[in-house]
Amino acid sequence: MVSRFSRRELAKLAGLSALGMAMPAGAAEKKGKQADLRFTPAPFPRGFVWGTATSSYQIEGAVNEDGRGPSIWDTFSHTADKIADHSNGDRANEHYHRYKEDVQLIKSLGVKAYRFSIAWPRVFPEGSGAPNPKGLDFYNRLIDELLANGIEPYATLYHWDLPQALEDRVGGWRSSDTSKAFGDYSGYVAARISDRVKNIFTLNEAGRFLNFGYGWGIDAPGLKLPTAELNQARHNVVLGHGLAVQAIRASARKGTKVGIAENIAACVPAFATPENIRATELATRELNASLLGVTLEGKYTDGFLEYSGKDAPKFTPEELKIIGSKTDFVGLNIYAPQFYIAASDKKPGWDVLPFPSSFPHMNSEWLRIGPEVIYWTPKIAAKIWNIDTIYISENGTSSEDKLRDNGKVYDLDRISFLRNYLTQLQRATAEGVPIKGYFLWSLMDNFEWIFGYEKRFGVYHVDFQTQARTPKLSAAFYRDVVAKNAIGP
Ligand code: BG6
Repeated sequence: MVSRFSRRELAKLAGLSALGMAMPAGAAEKKGKQADLRFTPAPFPRGFVWGTATSSYQIEGAVNEDGRGPSIWDTFSHTADKIADHSNGDRANEHYHRYKEDVQLIKSLGVKAYRFSIAWPRVFPEGSGAPNPKGLDFYNRLIDELLANGIEPYATLYHWDLPQALEDRVGGWRSSDTSKAFGDYSGYVAARISDRVKNIFTLNEAGRFLNFGYGWGIDAPGLKLPTAELNQARHNVVLGHGLAVQAIRASARKGTKVGIAENIAACVPAFATPENIRATELATRELNASLLGVTLEGKYTDGFLEYSGKDAPKFTPEELKIIGSKTDFVGLNIYAPQFYIAASDKKPGWDVLPFPSSFPHMNSEWLRIGPEVIYWTPKIAAKIWNIDTIYISENGTSSEDKLRDNGKVYDLDRISFLRNYLTQLQRATAEGVPIKGYFLWSLMDNFEWIFGYEKRFGVYHVDFQTQARTPKLSAAFYRDVVAKNAIGP
């Protein structure tokens, strides 16, 4: 870069004083005292939980080992033209065999928490029926290794790898038999890990896997259901969550905490006036009514039922009670502002504003940059649903992430993204929004679903030929934030 410019051009670009060329020695002192470059980073609350996150199908590989059954993602990724780079998760990060090495990567970030997911088809290869003890053995080994290294395990029971057998037998989430099977599986696992795992997430991102997998046919199992059937599948999913909460309460050690991890429809006021903020509260409640909202309220909003009309899900009051089973925390996966909201005089009192095509985004096109989302969304969620414990269960970004000849990855855009988002997160905690922890997505590059290995979200770079893991510059940045428990400019 430097060599492309003459010294004169560079001086012009950089500002003469930056090169030390323009000012004669002593001139700065004569001008007065130099600015003090020290700064005080803004602190997070004491005991704030810093962590990182991954999911089973994205990193484990070993898809045919120790009795694991196939999942809908095995089937989907092996179907022609579904994955951008025609890859699959057969090998992924070989984490199933390299988990000890990976625990050391977590440890060297200085974080004290790790959110991973359990592959249902490892534990119940057929989805229900006979368990496969060898499947759970892997997670027991992982949990023990984490604890031995001072890292608290946070387990997620469902991160999209539904047993294929359930899809084939009952139509997956189209049937409430899957909800029941999920409840049974959750109780089985909780009984066996809750002596060491104190926090369990039921589902990861119901909004994503339903819309993409059952509505638009983009994710596994690749269905495009009509609205009524999609709404029924949504209902079966939240019912599965409720049954899992009840089963965990019944079988886990006393004191085990449970909650959902949802990619909440993230609403942000277009700009902060009392009217726009109020409108954003209304929009948040309505736009989340069929998933997160019903789990927290135990009922569908009138607005949702009215809007859905004949396509509304069929349900019983008993089911709503199960769905609304009390949880201990709410996990919010927050990446991008999804809806900018402005107040409106017309019903329902709010407008969703269109995004201009020039709105900035990160390396992933869907990942629009709006750091204020991680301030507003938890703040508004806590208020409208009276939540007392929130985790940011995922946040992070992809980046080009080139491994340079010197073995380094200078992911400055990720650092900038994280710095800005964490600044807004700190602001929320300083105002008393009850956010107890943050899990950075992701520990390492992995199988990014339909993007295959083309998108990299890790703070560790992975060479998928050699399986070498290399810390990116953002790993050092995150380690610094964690060590200080504070974020600087
Ligand atoms: C979240 C998921 O939606 O975003 C993760 O919970 C996923 O599993 C991450 O890896 C990035 O999404 P994508 O679609 O870009 O791979």
